[in-house]
Amino acid sequence: MEEVLKVIKERRSIRKYKDKDVAKNKIQKVLEGANWAPSNGNSQPWDFIVAKGEYVDKVCNVFYEWAKSYIPNAPYIPEEKKPLMLEYAKNFGGAPVHITVTYRSSGDEIKDEEALMAASAAIQNLTLVATEEDLGTVWIAGHVAHAEKTKEILGLDDNQKIAGIIPIGYPDINPPAPAREDPDLNKKVTWLGF
Ligand SMILES: Cc1cc2nc3c(=O)[nH]c(=O)nc-3n(C[C@H](O)[C@H](O)[C@H](O)COP(=O)(O)O)c2cc1C
Repeated sequence: MEEVLKVIKERRSIRKYKDKDVAKNKIQKVLEGANWAPSNGNSQPWDFIVAKGEYVDKVCNVFYEWAKSYIPNAPYIPEEKKPLMLEYAKNFGGAPVHITVTYRSSGDEIKDEEALMAASAAIQNLTLVATEEDLGTVWIAGHVAHAEKTKEILGLDDNQKIAGIIPIGYPDINPPAPAREDPDLNKKVTWLGF
């Protein structure tokens, strides 16, 4: 079990990738990990769209078109960080493959929330197996994951929603771990009945 904690702590969001393809058998191993996540009623409400080439380029373009006007005008982003962020926005750091994790929406608010929780657990599993395979990932959500254009590019049904777009590839950086908000875990834990 110490191994699990080690991989959890080693995983980093990677925002720059080597120009090197990822073998299909490695991707399958990562997907196997994702598929073993817990889910509501064991419904396994996720699907995985594994994309490369023009599909990756087109999804990146959806993000870049939005980021081009958003990043320069975002008051909370320090000016000196904006050029780097815009560069990253062009292609998510150049990952050769994207795994988009979707969940099925039934329109029932509670079921949909649970499906998103399950898909998120699958994403976390995916990122951890990728770390063990020396692959980098970053969880992309927000605007690009909600854009109709992205769903169209990936050929999603109306009832499929995106929990995350996960660029995956060989890391070209080794970023330090960002500090957690509260290193004193006890401040975030309530023990009842101990
Ligand atoms: C739900 C979710 C959405 C995220 N969205 C983005 C995103 O759109 N772009 C991005 O670069 N990173 C995104 N991240 C990654 C976080 O920025 C990152 O996990 C956090 O800064 C901690 O860094 P670490 O992953 O290296 O520990 C997202 C993470 C989560 C869980």
